[in-house]
This record gives sequence, C-alpha cells and structure tokens, in this order.
Amino acid sequence: MIENGTFKPVIVGFLCNWCSYRAADLAGTSRMGYPSTLRDIRIMCTGRLDPTFVLRALQKGADGVLIMGCHPGQCHYQAGNYKAIRRFALLKRTLRQLGLEEERVQLHWASAAEGVQFAETVARMTEQIKALGPLDWSHNWPNEDPYAVEEATE
Ligand code: FES
Repeated sequence: MIENGTFKPVIVGFLCNWCSYRAADLAGTSRMGYPSTLRDIRIMCTGRLDPTFVLRALQKGADGVLIMGCHPGQCHYQAGNYKAIRRFALLKRTLRQLGLEEERVQLHWASAAEGVQFAETVARMTEQIKALGPLDWSHNWPNEDPYAVEEATE
C-alpha cells in the first residue's frame, strides 16, 4: 500500500489465540508503539494454519505474512506448533522456488506475556519488508480465484 507517497507494507498475521494474540492485546493495552502494518487473524493454534492460507494472503495483496504461536513445548494442544514448524519448512521451500524473498513469510513465537517481543517482531518485519518493496503478487495470478469454492449445481 502506498500512503502519502511512501510504501507501507501490508502484513497478514496469523496469531495463535492462546499466546501471540494475547501478546498483541498486551502490546495494545500497554500502549506499546509498533507499526500499524499488521492485519491480524486469530487462529486457535499455529498447527491449524493451512499453508494455502499464506498463499491466499499473498495472492490477495499482502506484502508479507507473519505466523506467531506458542513457544515450542508450550502449545495449548501439545504438538500443534511442532506441526507448524514442519509445514513452515515445506512452505518456505515452495516459496523460495517461486522467487519469494525469505523475509516475507516468517514464523515467530510469543507468549501471552511477551507484548514487547510481539511489538518488536512486527516493527522488525515491517522494516525488512519496506526494504524489499511491494510484493504485488496479485498480478501473477489468473483473474479467477483458484481457492473459490464451487457452488453446488442441481
Ligand atoms: S496453541 Fe498456540 S501454537 Fe498451538
């Protein structure tokens, strides 16, 4: 997004309900300053994140995607974040082959008490993506939505 002539990244954040979403809340209620670049989406666990959600966000105009969840060993559902780590590695490999820069899709951890770390992560990622410039990936996709659910015909 270009705002007042300068590039302001749009980052879609998939935040785990039990930790990083609460860290975002803490950062907000504590009035910690961080860039307003994040569009957060609450998910119940990083293990629930289907990699196609990330692709869809990039396809729909995001310049980056931030996935944040509970620290390893602290997942509310025991092993969801370990599954996320494995999926993330595969997703990164795919994105690399598509020519996407490493910094555009990131996985981080933040507990509910880590509002400062949350704010710092968003600020750091915003600067990294600003340096890369807009992704503008939506132009690489066909006009029809590949994820559209077909309507049932009778
Ligand atoms: S519940 Fe937070 S990552 Fe699984």
